[in-house]
Amino acid sequence: MTDFDRYVDDSIGLIRDSRIKDAMKYCIEGGKKFRPQVMFAIAKGFGKNEEIIYPAACALEYIHTYSLIHDDLPGMDNDDFRRGKLSCHRRFGEDIAILTGDAFLTHGFSVLANSSYSAELKVNLINALAKYAGMDGMIYGQLLDVTSSHDINAEDLFEIQDNKTSGLFKFACLASMYICGNDDYRFFEKLGSKLGVVFQNQDDLFDIIKSEEETGKSNSDIRNDKITALSFKSTDELKSYIDELFADLKKYLTRAPFDAKYLLEIIEKMERR
Ligand code: IPE
Ligand code: IPE
Ligand code: MG
Ligand code: MG
Ligand code: MG
Repeated sequence: MTDFDRYVDDSIGLIRDSRIKDAMKYCIEGGKKFRPQVMFAIAKGFGKNEEIIYPAACALEYIHTYSLIHDDLPGMDNDDFRRGKLSCHRRFGEDIAILTGDAFLTHGFSVLANSSYSAELKVNLINALAKYAGMDGMIYGQLLDVTSSHDINAEDLFEIQDNKTSGLFKFACLASMYICGNDDYRFFEKLGSKLGVVFQNQDDLFDIIKSEEETGKSNSDIRNDKITALSFKSTDELKSYIDELFADLKKYLTRAPFDAKYLLEIIEKMERR
């Protein structure tokens, strides 16, 4: 268990004993924690200790976990497995799963509000989280994901991915920027966009080429008739496109206003997954 895992566990410990708390503990476990790792890497690149990121990374991991619980519900992707075990509604029932997602969402904001960040920093973080987890980010992207028709082009697909997945990566990058005292908003927002798009394209590829044992979750894009790059690319074409996206991301990092070597390590880890 890492120090960050302990921080997250302690924070869930503040929740009132209940079936929701049990479900939160169950659901938080088993994630790759890529978004927190991105945040720690940026902080280290700024010469900071990763602990200063914990409250923001914890809030983000909660919002991300809520998004997955709701994404798996029967009215959304209807998936039975997540993080190597039964999805929240399959284990606890739909009612508890909806409320557990809601509890993660609200508790995420509470973690930020009760952190030891300055009042100004808290406002910036809470504002950014509301924006990028909401209708200027994840929720908007999920809306596009469930409502788009099949006659879309690559630009439309980018809009879905840039919101549903990059939304939370944009928060990861911008929160790290705020906490480390930088203000290059354009650079960090775009970094989050690029990270999310490559991450989602990989996820869509893995849904087809990897087994559920390997991904730890249900492969359901075909059953759900999802729009992904595979709606207009072969798997080989998508693999080459992902390689191009990684190359572009690494090139972009040469302009980073921090030492990018730690983030490069995370990106290379992502590339090898
Ligand atoms: C899954 O995210 C949802 C996508 C945006 C593709 P992760 O692959 O980061 O899921 P966990 O946190 O490791 O379970
Ligand atoms: C979900 O994308 C992204 C979210 C915002 C939750 P997917 O539906 O492809 O994620 P998985 O494959 O279920 O993890
Ligand atoms: Mg989905
Ligand atoms: Mg899904
Ligand atoms: Mg997927």
